Amino acid sequence: MADHLIIFDTTLRDGEQSPGASMTREEKLRIAKQLERLRVDVIEAGFPASSNGDFECVRAIAAAIRDSTVCGLARANQNDIERCGEAIRPAQSGRIHTFIASSPIHMQMKLRMSPDDVLAQAVRAIGWARAYTDNVEFSPEDAGRSEPDFLCRLLEAVIDAGATTVNIPDTVGYTMPWQFGALVGSLRERVPNADKAVWSVHCHNDLGLAVANSLAAVMSGARQVECTINGLGERAGNASLEEIVMAVRTRKDVFPCTTRIDTTQIVAASKLVSGITGFPVQPNKAIVGANAFAHESGIHQDGVLKHRETYEIMRAEDVGWNANKLSLGKLSGRNAFKTRLVELGIELAGDDALNAAFAKFKELADKKGQVFDEDLQALVSDESIAPEHEHYRLLTLKVVSETGEEPQARVAIAAGTAELSTDASGDGPVDAVFKGIGRLAQSDAKLLLYSVNAITTGTDAQGEVTVRLEREGRIVNGNGADTDIIVASAKAYLNALNKLRSRQERLNPQLAA
Ligand code: KIV
Ligand code: ZN
Repeated sequence: MADHLIIFDTTLRDGEQSPGASMTREEKLRIAKQLERLRVDVIEAGFPASSNGDFECVRAIAAAIRDSTVCGLARANQNDIERCGEAIRPAQSGRIHTFIASSPIHMQMKLRMSPDDVLAQAVRAIGWARAYTDNVEFSPEDAGRSEPDFLCRLLEAVIDAGATTVNIPDTVGYTMPWQFGALVGSLRERVPNADKAVWSVHCHNDLGLAVANSLAAVMSGARQVECTINGLGERAGNASLEEIVMAVRTRKDVFPCTTRIDTTQIVAASKLVSGITGFPVQPNKAIVGANAFAHESGIHQDGVLKHRETYEIMRAEDVGWNANKLSLGKLSGRNAFKTRLVELGIELAGDDALNAAFAKFKELADKKGQVFDEDLQALVSDESIAPEHEHYRLLTLKVVSETGEEPQARVAIAAGTAELSTDASGDGPVDAVFKGIGRLAQSDAKLLLYSVNAITTGTDAQGEVTVRLEREGRIVNGNGADTDIIVASAKAYLNALNKLRSRQERLNPQLAA
């Protein structure tokens, strides 16, 4: 029997550490529900001590998820661990993941602690965590650059203290696959109580080796891989979940383990994360890129038509491509709409939100005729149905664009209870609209990114716009969807302004002292 490989998803924690990828509570809940549908074993839902907002997110996810373990991250100090323990309390199955740096450079320059002090603190941390749960994970941060002898001592001590998973992070993405595989193999051999814990790995992609390093470690006995949807994560990101899962599945002849992932949910998860964070997926990205299963050259097309396996090692449908499901149409009623939302794992807070969403759905169905699951996902991501986050709201928009003339926009927005309107011109219609909104909101935010994607196919598809804004070092993404991309752009811009207004500051676990 093949071993079980635990898939630990950290999109909501390490993924969220990517600049600009921060998410609201509703967004995180939607992603967590999709991760549960994907059947990941563990969802790392956040870092509860980083802010009250993060604490609430982890707690809400712990309460909502039933089929995956919900994990929170905590530095190896009592306050972080207590916050984390409280946040995961509602979980059916909860885990505390605590960490402290173990490399000479991190211990000397960042922690200013001796190795013995680090070891003692790690052991204390496991004790605090065990008071909340018997599912405790420990990570020696920057293990990839740590001294193996010290790692052996440290890991033996934390396993003795009650850590049930020990995770080896290549925090800065420095190791080579053969080195990392050998490191994990030798630690498992040398740590005397190694068999009392699950061995895990957590690799960053600074040299593009995160997936290769993780798989090398699996070959050396790691039975948990920490990864993220689309490889999102700090700097160059983490190992990508879809690549790990599909490598293990496609090459079952070489891997001695299997996952319980429902691979048909992969593309939906990828699109959801990309849409919410505004991090587009490159077309040639393995598994989830738009071209991952497209055959351009005649020779390839001919081969695939004659016998699919000449050029395809996986089936597109196995990862959820071509699953554009026709959800609902113009005639669908409120009940059918609500049922489909529930099937998609989307919960709206109360009848008012449902009614607002249903009204939007009707409007969209009138315009488009056919409404797909992706349209519904975009529709509910529109902040206008989560009024508590909404200070700015688009009221009306008129744009005039004519060859040889400067585009003009007349834009009216609600700002709290006030209604404001202005005329503006710009290089293009979107520029004119953004200038108008910027003036009305008296915003000095800098536009870092503007991108438009079609949610489904066809010229009647909704356009989904992402706007990334920066103010005083804080970066946020706003999203908006509409069949009119200028309207979608205005909504995305306002959504980003709302986030800049409301979002709390959070600590980065690895940068905070
Ligand atoms: O990269 C890292 O070392 C981490 C740890 C907290 C596991 O994210
Ligand atoms: Zn990390």
